[in-house]
Amino acid sequence: MLPWTLLALFLQSLALNSASPSSSEEDGSSEKDGRERSKGSHGHWRYNDQDSWAMDFHDCKGKSQSPINIDTRNVAVDPGMAPIKLEGYDLTDEESLKLINNGHTLQLSLPGSMRIVSGFDDVFVAAQLHFHWGTREVPGSEHTVDDVHFPAEIHVVHYNSKYANFAEAASRPDGLAVLAGFIQIGLRENENYEKILSSIKDVSIEDSDTEIPGFNVLHLLPANLGRFYRYNGSLTTPPCFQTVNWTIFNESITVSRTQLATLEDTLKADRDRHLSKNFRAPQRLHGRRVLSSFGALPDARGRRVNPPFSADVDSANNGVPGNERVGADGGFTRGDVLATAFGVLFFVTLLSFMVYAFQQQKKYSRFKKDARQNVIYQQATKEDI
Ligand SMILES: *[C@@H]1O[C@H](CO)[C@@H](O)[C@H](O)[C@H]1NC(C)=O
Ligand SMILES: *[C@@H]1O[C@H](CO)[C@@H](O)[C@H](O)[C@H]1NC(C)=O
Ligand SMILES: *[C@@H]1O[C@H](CO)[C@@H](O)[C@H](O)[C@H]1NC(C)=O
Ligand SMILES: [Zn+2]
Repeated sequence: MLPWTLLALFLQSLALNSASPSSSEEDGSSEKDGRERSKGSHGHWRYNDQDSWAMDFHDCKGKSQSPINIDTRNVAVDPGMAPIKLEGYDLTDEESLKLINNGHTLQLSLPGSMRIVSGFDDVFVAAQLHFHWGTREVPGSEHTVDDVHFPAEIHVVHYNSKYANFAEAASRPDGLAVLAGFIQIGLRENENYEKILSSIKDVSIEDSDTEIPGFNVLHLLPANLGRFYRYNGSLTTPPCFQTVNWTIFNESITVSRTQLATLEDTLKADRDRHLSKNFRAPQRLHGRRVLSSFGALPDARGRRVNPPFSADVDSANNGVPGNERVGADGGFTRGDVLATAFGVLFFVTLLSFMVYAFQQQKKYSRFKKDARQNVIYQQATKEDI
C-alpha cells in the first residue's frame, strides 16, 4: 500500500542521512603527483612502447606506479585531509614564462614563488605544468575514473621545499607533489587556457620554446579544489620514480572543442610525427589505497556508496558497493530516534490528509452535480499549454 511504501522510504532516507558523516566541502585543495621529468636529454622512450620502459628504467615496473584507475566505489573517504592552499599562483604579465615542446608534452615552466603552502607536511614549490591528451577519437587523460578516460589532463608539478631543486627532489620518497585536473569539452572557449594555447603554434617543432606573459595559473585548475583524490604514486614517464604524492581533483575543467583540437593537432615530435596520445596506461594498484576528501553522493536508493575511511585496506577494497552503515554499531543513535519520531509524525499527517481529501472529494462531486447546468466550457488556447 502506498502510504506504507512512502513511510518506509522516508524513514530509510532519514536514517541513512544521520548515519553518513557530514560531507566535507572544505575549500582547500589538493595536491597532485609530480610527473614526467624529461631530464635534459629526453631519453629514447616512446609512448607506443610503454611495456619496454622498464628495460631502461627499473622503477617503471615498481608497485606504486602512476597513473591509476580511480574506482569510486573503493575510495576511502578521509575528510580529515588538509585542504590544499596555493600561494603565488596569480602571476603578473611582467613575469614571462617559458613554454616548451619537449617532444613528449607541452610544458610551461613555473617560478619558485608559486607554492603549495598547506595540504602536505611540507611546503612544495612549483616547477612546471604540462598536459596529456589523445586525439579526436581517443580521449587522452592518464588517470581514469571508473575506467573512463577524459579528453585531456593537466599536471602541475611541485617539489618539496626541503630539497634544493626539482632534480634533487625527484628521487626522494617525499620529493614531489602533483596536482592533476581532468579537461573536458564545454560550450565556451576557456580564456585562461587560451593564455597558453594562443602560443602553441610557436612551439610546434620538437625542442622549440617561446616566452609567454604570466597570468593567474590558478585559473587553469578547477574552481573547487576541496574535492580531491589522494594516493601515493610515481612519475608517469621514465624514469617513473615512485616519489609523487598525487592529488586529483574531482571537479573537471572545460575548454572548447576547438581548443582541445588545437592541443591535439598542433605539436610535432619524433621526426615530424604528430605529438598526440601522450598518456601512459593505468597501472596496477598493488594494494595501494586511494583516499578522497569528500563523501560520495547517495545513489538512487539513498545509500552511501563509499566505505568509510578505515585502517583496513583489504576490507576497503572488498567493500560491497552500497554497503550500508545504518545502525552499524548496534545501538540506537539520536538520529534513529529522530527519524522514527518524524516517520510517525509524517504517517499521521499523511493519514489525516487522505481522510480529509476523501471527504472533500465526496462534497465536491455533490457540488458538481448541482452546478453542472450553469457551466460554460471554454476551449483551451495554445498559450494555456
Ligand atoms: C602525501 O601527503 C599526505 C598529506 O600530507 C601524507 O600523509 C602522506 O604521507 C604523503 N605521502 C608520501 C608518500 O609522502
Ligand atoms: C603514502 O605513503 C606514506 C608514507 O609511506 C604513508 O604514510 C601514507 O599512509 C600513504 N598514503 C596512502 C593514501 O596510502
Ligand atoms: C566526482 O565524484 C563523483 C562522486 O563520487 C563521481 O561520481 C564522479 O565520477 C567524480 N568525477 C571525477 C572526475 O572524479
Ligand atoms: Zn604528466
